[in-house]
Amino acid sequence: MAGRDAAGSVGSGMRVGLGTGSTVAHFLLHLGDRIASGELSDVVGVPTSIRTEEKALELGIPLGTLGGLGALDLTVDGADEVDPRLNLIKGLGGALLREKMVAQASRRMLAIVDDTKLVERLGQRAPLPVEVVPFEFASHLPWLERLGAEPVLRRNGDGSRYLTDNGNFVIDCHFAGGIPDPGAVDESLGRRAGVVESGLFLEMADEVVVAGKTGVYRMTGVASW
Ligand code: A5P
Repeated sequence: MAGRDAAGSVGSGMRVGLGTGSTVAHFLLHLGDRIASGELSDVVGVPTSIRTEEKALELGIPLGTLGGLGALDLTVDGADEVDPRLNLIKGLGGALLREKMVAQASRRMLAIVDDTKLVERLGQRAPLPVEVVPFEFASHLPWLERLGAEPVLRRNGDGSRYLTDNGNFVIDCHFAGGIPDPGAVDESLGRRAGVVESGLFLEMADEVVVAGKTGVYRMTGVASW
């Protein structure tokens, strides 16, 4: 429902960032349908992962690059948590770096979620994914503990280390009771050599489309639930 609603926000001629994940998969389907039916023309998407790129090509969504297109009109992406100020945790799907690069190149970011993702405090339920270069990645673990997290290196089902599309590792950081000061954690992570990016998307989403049992609604600005 949220994916279909967000597809309605795309107009002809728009340059659109295409997020990653199971919710975005629905957005892509509806966007592809609107393009195939001729309802939308001259739309170009920039994918945030190899998965999304493959899916978009399959659905006939024309693709471009940030370098070629410059600023995007809109990015539509999923999220793992949304707080009342519309700050997000993203990256359980591993695409956080490309997702943040595409979102920062967009005039507007629309997040699409179901209402189970709404939290009072970020980190309450989802871990914070942190993408790190493989070199000496273990050196981050005690540092992340001092930051208040319980860090766990992400692994595939067969036990091998999970690799992002960029060839990096992900450390999932669990914060008991949530992240007390997401801004401070974001700043510390930003200063740390070897940390590529984190899944904290602070003040990036302009609007959130929420799907729940009673239907779909949109939130802008400070919300309450
Ligand atoms: C991908 O890296 C993530 O940021 C996803 O956008 C996020 O995990 C939401 O995914 P789902 O829609 O599959 O829950």
